[in-house]
Amino acid sequence: MVYLDNAATTMRKPREVIEAVIHAMETAGNAARGMGEAALWSSRSIFEARMQVADFFNVKRPDHVIFTSNATEALNIALNGLFEKGDHVITTALEHNAVLRPLYRLEERGDIALSIVPADSYGNIDMDAFEALIRPLTRAIVVTHASNLTGNVVDVRRIGRLAQSRGILFVVDAAQTAGSVPIDMENIAIDVLCVTGHKGLFGPQGTGCLCLRDGVDVRPFKVGGTGVQSFSKTQPKMYPERLEAGTLNTHGIAGLVAGINFIRSVGIEEIHRHEMSLTHRFYDGVVSIPDIQIYGDFSADDRAPIVALNLGDIDSAIVADMLSTSYGIATRAGAHCAPRMHEALGTVSQGAVRFSFSWFNTEDEIDRAIAALHDISRHVASGTQD
Ligand code: ALA
Repeated sequence: MVYLDNAATTMRKPREVIEAVIHAMETAGNAARGMGEAALWSSRSIFEARMQVADFFNVKRPDHVIFTSNATEALNIALNGLFEKGDHVITTALEHNAVLRPLYRLEERGDIALSIVPADSYGNIDMDAFEALIRPLTRAIVVTHASNLTGNVVDVRRIGRLAQSRGILFVVDAAQTAGSVPIDMENIAIDVLCVTGHKGLFGPQGTGCLCLRDGVDVRPFKVGGTGVQSFSKTQPKMYPERLEAGTLNTHGIAGLVAGINFIRSVGIEEIHRHEMSLTHRFYDGVVSIPDIQIYGDFSADDRAPIVALNLGDIDSAIVADMLSTSYGIATRAGAHCAPRMHEALGTVSQGAVRFSFSWFNTEDEIDRAIAALHDISRHVASGTQD
């Protein structure tokens, strides 16, 4: 199989990740919940993991790295724990439902007012719109670092500067960029960074983290055991326990750290360079196909390694199914949990076929995907599609 669905999850993981998970499964007890080597191993391993994640994203306080099950959980914790009734929040049409649905629910309950920066038909947003939308009660700007559909990257540095200068919280969904693009929370002035472990970081599914700047106050989303302050009726106030009720995914976290160390050993710039080279090779190889429609802005210097497209007016699921069954190429079709992005692109009923690349993809795989699309397009033109 040629796996080109890395924006959904990276399927090919470094050997070190698999070995780290196996080792943890053979070694781990329950961190902060037991005496003996196994529990201590887990406590130490999670402590070390927080240090590694903090170093990777430049989180000043490692105790402000909260382990979660994915970016969606990180976003739910943050968005449900940050706001007071009456707050105003700005987000964008680029967002995944992991951002939109928590915000819609808060809006529906009358807890927040929501403004959404629209996207144009290239999937770009007007960067001046943020400033124009700020009101006295604006509490946060919530933005994806890159669209999971078009791969367009947002200028988070510019939004970070704006948010900082106006005393507004800046929340970033880095599900599509963590591990592919360097992210420095302090430099970009991100207050809340939400990350998944199973995509660019090469960790197992069921891992992710929420990274907070010092001084950011998030109410607990879930409450329960932390291994400390057991006689208190309320959740501990200190991080990370405040936001980490229940046993952590020690096995997954071990794999996540191995993934981060793998990225360090290769170099994130090198990974990004390879992924961009594959992205542009693919784009150049398919752009001349008759009737192809490619979404997103390929004039930008920087992007996530994603190319979304359609062939004529064929339903995206049909093309993705042909790619899979006839050519062994895995992609993702449909709506990608990004409803407003599809509205902006005019692809609500057709969806789009999304190709997404990773460090482990080769030029040969890209060439096979290019050839497959040319082939499908010829079949369609000659009326032999079925
Ligand atoms: N959010 C993931 C995607 O874009 C699952 O496919």
